Amino acid sequence: MPFFRNTDETKTIEIVHLSVRYHALEALRDINCIIKPGKLTGIFGPNGAGKSTLLKAMLGLVSCSGTVLYQGKPLMQQLDKVAYVPQRSQIDWTYPATVWDAVMMGRVRKTGWLRHFSAVSRQIAEAALQRVEMLEYRNRPIGQLSGGQQQRVFLARALAQEAEIFCFDEPLVGIDQKTQVVIFQVFNELAASGKIVLVVNHDLGKSISHFDELILLNRDLIAAGARQKVLTEENLSCAYGGNVMFWKEAV
Ligand SMILES: Nc1ncnc2c1ncn2[C@@H]1O[C@H](COP(=O)(O)OP(=O)(O)O)[C@@H](O)[C@H]1O
Ligand SMILES: [Mg+2]
Repeated sequence: MPFFRNTDETKTIEIVHLSVRYHALEALRDINCIIKPGKLTGIFGPNGAGKSTLLKAMLGLVSCSGTVLYQGKPLMQQLDKVAYVPQRSQIDWTYPATVWDAVMMGRVRKTGWLRHFSAVSRQIAEAALQRVEMLEYRNRPIGQLSGGQQQRVFLARALAQEAEIFCFDEPLVGIDQKTQVVIFQVFNELAASGKIVLVVNHDLGKSISHFDELILLNRDLIAAGARQKVLTEENLSCAYGGNVMFWKEAV
């Protein structure tokens, strides 16, 4: 299906000289790249490449040197415009929240904890759950869902935030086929409406062909830009080591 993609160049994220150290370990070294709105951008690289660290550094969750700008101003001062879904393994699934609670948490920034959630917030949460086909599970504790269902609930929470920048860390891990279809439909809709959609992946499977832009990392930035430009044998072996299967159809 052809999409009209809004590419409002002023709404870019610029990452300038970003480095992160965890004590002696240099997790990211001098990363420089631009992330465009209206595109589906994948951050790829092997385990330990610094992909999660890049998202966390952008959002101020780990300390870093360098600058991250959105619309020319520090992103850190505009975190209300960001929806972030961490890796599923980092979420405490024993927390006694229902599907509905989890999605309504996405409305907290707009409404505040102490106020009653407005009818509008409830409608937005309901529409988000409907979009990911999880509305019928609204009263289920999140700990009782399958991996794919949990991922869809967290996608709904991100949608309920009505953000401009969406960051997902490894959303494709441990999910079923249906969830994968829904997730990419929603990512494409977000991109088509001019949002920034940033998705971390480690697996160089067929799903790479869904992405418009790639950021290829292995502590250093190996390459960034249009998928066709980044997906070269040389770039892939630089990021993943010598024995990478080159996926010609993905280009
Ligand atoms: N909080 C931390 N303290 C120390 N080292 C860390 C911490 N978080 C990540 N690391 C290390 O930094 C490197 C990059 O980690 P990460 O960003 O999680 O990689 P990726 O998401 O690409 O798998 C890894 O070697 C990891 O072990
Ligand atoms: Mg990670």
